[in-house]
Amino acid sequence: MDHLTHVKHPLVQHKLSLMRDKETSTAVFRQLLREISQLLAYEVTRELPMTTRAIETPMQSMDAPVLAGRKMALVSILRAGNGLLDGILELVPSARVGFVGLYRDEETLEPVQYYFKAPDQLDERLVIAVDPMLATGNSSVAAIDLLKTKGAKDIRFLCLLAAPEGIARMKEAHPDVPIVTAAVDERLNDKGYIVPGLGDAGDRMFGTK
Ligand code: URA
Repeated sequence: MDHLTHVKHPLVQHKLSLMRDKETSTAVFRQLLREISQLLAYEVTRELPMTTRAIETPMQSMDAPVLAGRKMALVSILRAGNGLLDGILELVPSARVGFVGLYRDEETLEPVQYYFKAPDQLDERLVIAVDPMLATGNSSVAAIDLLKTKGAKDIRFLCLLAAPEGIARMKEAHPDVPIVTAAVDERLNDKGYIVPGLGDAGDRMFGTK
């Protein structure tokens, strides 16, 4: 995969515009995120390795294509990552799931870890780390550092919005981790928020402030 895949599908772009609108309710925002996550998951899983399995259709036998290898691992970067997780799990129900808890120190913008739990044998799985917002890149880089420490070798990063600063930071720290995003926005503001962006993704999806 390329280091950056910008998914420009009309359905993705339309849903994203609705999500950016500050008048969009929490319930609709959450539903749109679920729908978009499935369209993005389609892209991020495009080149999964395949094998064949001998089956019998009602008509005859055939070697049918099926996914190869261990079940993939989805890793949600808490808490906003959970909004992407649910939709992807509907598409890939057998995926294993991990969580990385990092909060952003509002002064330094540096990530602080408070939780980590991941499936075993990460080294044999495709690992898809999910977080709707790739802003400074600090938390994404830290989450991927952690996954690599636990053995992950084949990692992809899935987000909704990416700032150029975050993409550059990820490319520098983890050039081997392809990024799939629905949009590349203009820049970060002085508080580390993406503009034009959609605000705080966690607050928008959970109805907090
Ligand atoms: N996290 C968010 O939720 N929104 C941003 O704009 C940046 C980081």
